[in-house]
Amino acid sequence: MAETPSAFFSAVVVTILAVLGGCSAPSEAARAFFVFGDSLVDNGNNNYLATTARADAPPYGIDSPSHRPSGRFSNGRNIPDIISEQLGAETTLPYLSPELRGEKLLVGANFASAGIGILNDTGIQFVNIIRINRQLQYFEEYQKKLSALIGASQAEMRVNQALVLITLGGNDFVNNYYLIPYSFRSRQFALPDYVRYLISEYYKILQVEHSLKPSILSSMLVHGCCSPERDWNSRFYSFCSSLFSVPNSCRGYMSSGPVELSSPGPARSAASRLSLP
Ligand SMILES: *[C@@H]1O[C@H](CO)[C@@H](O)[C@H](O)[C@H]1NC(C)=O
Repeated sequence: MAETPSAFFSAVVVTILAVLGGCSAPSEAARAFFVFGDSLVDNGNNNYLATTARADAPPYGIDSPSHRPSGRFSNGRNIPDIISEQLGAETTLPYLSPELRGEKLLVGANFASAGIGILNDTGIQFVNIIRINRQLQYFEEYQKKLSALIGASQAEMRVNQALVLITLGGNDFVNNYYLIPYSFRSRQFALPDYVRYLISEYYKILQVEHSLKPSILSSMLVHGCCSPERDWNSRFYSFCSSLFSVPNSCRGYMSSGPVELSSPGPARSAASRLSLP
């Protein structure tokens, strides 16, 4: 990694903006936007759940206009907020928010839940979180509500033209494989085999929901240089040191980056881009 993490992060944002390029015409009604995944994109769902995976206390939100935590795992906005802004749309509401009804449904919805991963056993320590299968069930439920509002064919069109962001995978490492020394998954799989297993499971998830055509897949963050992971696990520490040679700072994300998907199919192009450093 020659580039600095902040430069890398900027590159990620620029890529997202490029992906959005064709759809920010202000005169058109904004596209609907659907968000699935983990804490990188959760904007408050976990606040409605009995879980410890929540961002409802300071310093979360300190740089937002209200300076108060909103459930985003961020000091201010998160990536979905920036995308919504580029779409010329309001921020999507968390699916569990009681405010998500009526016209608000047209904006889309955020189904993400902090702590989840590709695997069902990722994040079990957080107990009550919305795993990806459940997020997809909620999406089905959402579509019924949208149909009731604008009719089935309009709803289908809106969903088909929507922008879909899925951010999954980081927790399968930090909150599963590397969570404790000799974790079940690390005894079960060597790292390269685990990565292959994750990709095959991710592929199945993407196949489940045929009406969902992800526009952006982002995953595989490495947050090994953040202090919690360094404290938990010395393997992270050495990985972090080798990567950045600045072991004492929490360096942002390293990701395969947002992927603009095209044929022959989402999972294949995602899989070809997913690799570990
Ligand atoms: C994960 O859980 C869901 C819902 O219980 C189930 O349908 C799915 O098959 C499980 N996935 C795996 C890989 O076991």
